[in-house]
Amino acid sequence: MIEESLRVEPATEAEWLGPLAVREFFAHPERRLEIDLGCGKGRFLLARAAKHPGTNFLGIDRMLRRIRKVDNRARRLDLINIRLMRVEAYYAVAHLLPRAAVDAYYIFFPDPWPKARHEGHRLFNAPFLDALHRTLAPEGVAHVATDHLPYFEQLSGVFAGDARFAPVAPFAPPEDEQTDFERYYIGQKPIGRLSVRRA
Ligand SMILES: C[S@@+](CC[C@H](N)C(=O)[O-])C[C@H]1O[C@@H](n2cnc3c(N)ncnc32)[C@H](O)[C@@H]1O
Repeated sequence: MIEESLRVEPATEAEWLGPLAVREFFAHPERRLEIDLGCGKGRFLLARAAKHPGTNFLGIDRMLRRIRKVDNRARRLDLINIRLMRVEAYYAVAHLLPRAAVDAYYIFFPDPWPKARHEGHRLFNAPFLDALHRTLAPEGVAHVATDHLPYFEQLSGVFAGDARFAPVAPFAPPEDEQTDFERYYIGQKPIGRLSVRRA
């Protein structure tokens, strides 16, 4: 049984300024690194990590309560291939993650900020794509899903206008890996899915 918390956060000033040696958080730093950005309560992350013990998974969320919940569950399930960071997503990708470190991002149901005056809070914009591109490994992929179709159209447009990313077949998790939000919306609302590869 894992005794220690799987939660990590930058400690020193140098770590806060990044890059952070995230691969070294894991017992096997040489393995694939996949990141669930905005992991919420971790249903996808926990199921995926249990199914792929040879892959390292980093869950990132800004809500400590959610990170704590995932931490407790991962330890109960003895999932040594999970680490969790409580930090703001854009800051993590833009400043903390090292260049070319990430093999796959999963960004499922990011907050849609539906009011026009709040659209500036959305995660997907040109600086975020710069940060994604910098941190993706060659051939690395990003998988996105949202129930908010105007946001889906906006982020599809941002990717379509950026030659650094090439579309690939959209990824839909199998039923046992569906996120909490996906389970909530499935059958109720159409879900927009997009996957891209670093070109
Ligand atoms: C709508 S929920 C989706 C959770 C999960 N991905 C799912 O599909 O069930 C969005 C999650 O992203 C987190 N979140 C929202 N904005 C964030 C940000 N800027 N940085 C880090 N986490 C964020 C929230 O705390 C929440 O857990």
